[in-house]
Amino acid sequence: MIAIGGFSPLKGFLERADYETVVEDMRLSSGLPWSIPVTLSVDEEIADSLKEGNWIRLNDPEGNFIGVLELTQKYHYNKTHEARNVYGTEESKHPGVKVVYEQGAVNLAGPVWLLQRDDHPLFPKYQIDPAVSRQSFKDRGWKTIVGFQTRNPIHRAHEYIQKCALEVVDGLFLHPLVGATKSDDIPADVRMRCYEIMMEKYFPQDRVILAINPSAMRYAGPREAIFHALVRKNYGCTHFIVGRDHAGVGDYYGTYDAQYIFDEFKPEELGIVPMKFEHAFYCTRTQQMATTKTSPSLKEERIHLSGTKVREMLRKGELPPPQFSRPEVAAELIKAMQN
Ligand code: ADX
Repeated sequence: MIAIGGFSPLKGFLERADYETVVEDMRLSSGLPWSIPVTLSVDEEIADSLKEGNWIRLNDPEGNFIGVLELTQKYHYNKTHEARNVYGTEESKHPGVKVVYEQGAVNLAGPVWLLQRDDHPLFPKYQIDPAVSRQSFKDRGWKTIVGFQTRNPIHRAHEYIQKCALEVVDGLFLHPLVGATKSDDIPADVRMRCYEIMMEKYFPQDRVILAINPSAMRYAGPREAIFHALVRKNYGCTHFIVGRDHAGVGDYYGTYDAQYIFDEFKPEELGIVPMKFEHAFYCTRTQQMATTKTSPSLKEERIHLSGTKVREMLRKGELPPPQFSRPEVAAELIKAMQN
């Protein structure tokens, strides 16, 4: 993500000054907005064996030489402070905090270079780097493009907010996150198949581009919404969808905290416009998808299921109702769950 420009303006892993201002103030030391630390942590013994000024070989998990880090700094950092500021909690049961606590004690910092751009092992067809997505938007004549982040299978609430947004912009950039997620999230290959089904049948193909976001999920709620928006700006989006409890987990964040946080920045410094949506559901009275902004329904007239409830139904082989999920998507999810 760093080397392909997905995390621009970062050119490498954060140095101490940037790390500190990101954790404290959601800004790089230059003042530019940046809400989540991007760091490379190692154990002390490894850090001790490395000298600042050296070039460090970076391997992929299989041991292949894929890149180089110019080690400009190594520094200790305070994990609980990072947890509290970035994730809003010090609890190790928070999946993002857990990752921070399991990291090494020392951050290695400095610019990185990629030696070779390998194909994504699972989704090469959807591996569209920022330079390519920007060019595609241009080629299609799109001036306004809305980006959509997701780590879940597509349900009708997602489709509804995507299409509401698409009513007012030129193009939709569907950008599911396919990097590391917590173990009970639906695997990326299943989610991508659901998106393919939707692309084939339910989306106007000339108005939508499907591509992968290969980075990891942090579950940092509001701060991650800012981060997600900045990443999509790098891919060329002008707008970004933020719905209810964006990038949230459990009940760590308020339903709309990820929307309120955009008010802490001037629009021109973010350079991407959030499109904020309330909780969407199927309204049985008006027989359509809606939110409380557009539906007069009482609570009992709304069909919405929690992620946990849906997973439970799918495991038992029960189809979620068509008002919640497109039947082809539900069938794909059941097939995956039962395998
Ligand atoms: S996330 O962790 O990537 O945010 P998810 O894939 O569920 O999770 O959500 C993707 C986007 O859709 C987020 O902006 C989220 O706020 C929004 N969203 C999901 N479900 C709803 C819903 N029922 N109503 C409104 N927005 C929603």
